[in-house]
Amino acid sequence: MKTLRLGIIGGGLMGKETASALARWCNLEDVGVNAELTAVCDLQPAVLDWFRRISSVRLFTADAAELLASPDVDAVYVAVPHHLHEELYLQVLRAGKDLLAEKPFGIDLAAARRVRDEAARLGRFVRCSSEFPFYPGPWRIFNEVRAGRCGRLIEVKAGFLHASDLDSDKPINWKRQARFCGAAGVMNDLGMHAAHLPLRLGWKPGHLYARLQKLVTERPDGKGGRAVCDTWENALLSGEFTDDAKRPVPITLEVKRVSPGDTNNWYLEIIGTEASYRFSTKEPRTLWVFRRDKEQWWQRTDLGMSPPFKVITPAIGEFGFADAFQQMLAAFAAEWAGVLGKRFGCATPDEAVATHELWTAALASNREHKVVSLTA
Ligand SMILES: NC(=O)c1ccc[n+]([C@@H]2O[C@H](COP(=O)([O-])OP(=O)(O)OC[C@H]3O[C@@H](n4cnc5c(N)ncnc54)[C@H](O)[C@@H]3O)[C@@H](O)[C@H]2O)c1
Repeated sequence: MKTLRLGIIGGGLMGKETASALARWCNLEDVGVNAELTAVCDLQPAVLDWFRRISSVRLFTADAAELLASPDVDAVYVAVPHHLHEELYLQVLRAGKDLLAEKPFGIDLAAARRVRDEAARLGRFVRCSSEFPFYPGPWRIFNEVRAGRCGRLIEVKAGFLHASDLDSDKPINWKRQARFCGAAGVMNDLGMHAAHLPLRLGWKPGHLYARLQKLVTERPDGKGGRAVCDTWENALLSGEFTDDAKRPVPITLEVKRVSPGDTNNWYLEIIGTEASYRFSTKEPRTLWVFRRDKEQWWQRTDLGMSPPFKVITPAIGEFGFADAFQQMLAAFAAEWAGVLGKRFGCATPDEAVATHELWTAALASNREHKVVSLTA
């Protein structure tokens, strides 16, 4: 069995989540590849110190070039603020390493295209982080839809909603400042999560209309003063794609940082004439399926632990965010090792670029108050 030796650049929130998922790799039953964390790079000494609890890490550094020169690193997971994506992703690729990038895969469309094209030119294996399709519910929905069980598609809705930014006393950080997060704001931050499954199913809108909102314009700067909060907080995109028979199907993509009552609500709703599906991380073990006979009904199924990669947790167990993140890493490692098979793979560079095409169109639509066509 091959072993993927992963390095991390950016050991913050997601760097630590990755370390934790790798540390319990034995949770996975049939992934067909081992994975271990061998090197960590972060600018903050305290962050590096956190990783000293992981015995497989042999290199701790504040210099990305030092990590990239290590012969103990096959691929690198980069989890840094968005304005640094392009520079660090290109550095990884040019050092001859494979890359698990974080969304949004560059601060804007031009950056995302440059990274994708360089990866193709150099022949590197590159995927982008997006873990929610690895929950048992979305994974089941994906397979049902692929098998053609929906009948004629009527409508698709996907979204990712947060409530924490409702608190205007929450101090500002880089995600709320356009120069670090990007002009697309919340779409850069949460959009890949909402768009990934629709894009994988080939449901990219040909045109869309978007409304964007800035709701909290100022926050504590954490140093006793106030700072301008200039990112879009909420985005509602309404578009249309065509199904296999070239019939138009409406699609709504919704991403919000100010959504009262939603801690971390990722949802998907696919409505068809023969079957419809609903899933939300608010009820992570529940899959709602609409069926019809002489009567019509929404059927609730408890899915338990049935993700793409088998785990040691019994089937009656609960599945959560950390599990989804580990499943995504398993998909990355398995595809890297050539053993993914028919299981769901991570978001591709083309899919990441496609998300930026959506956000670019949404920014134009919001600015001009009109429906905008997507050229690519
Ligand atoms: N997949 C998900 O569910 C998910 C969730 C949150 C964030 N993210 C994404 O992950 C990325 C990072 O977000 P986060 O929340 O972990 O951020 P964070 O602010 O918690 O961590 C970023 C880390 O990067 C380090 N850093 C900054 N510049 C660096 C450099 N030049 N070299 C090395 N380290 C450097 C910082 O010191 C910090 O520790 C972003 O792209 C974000 O969109 C993904």
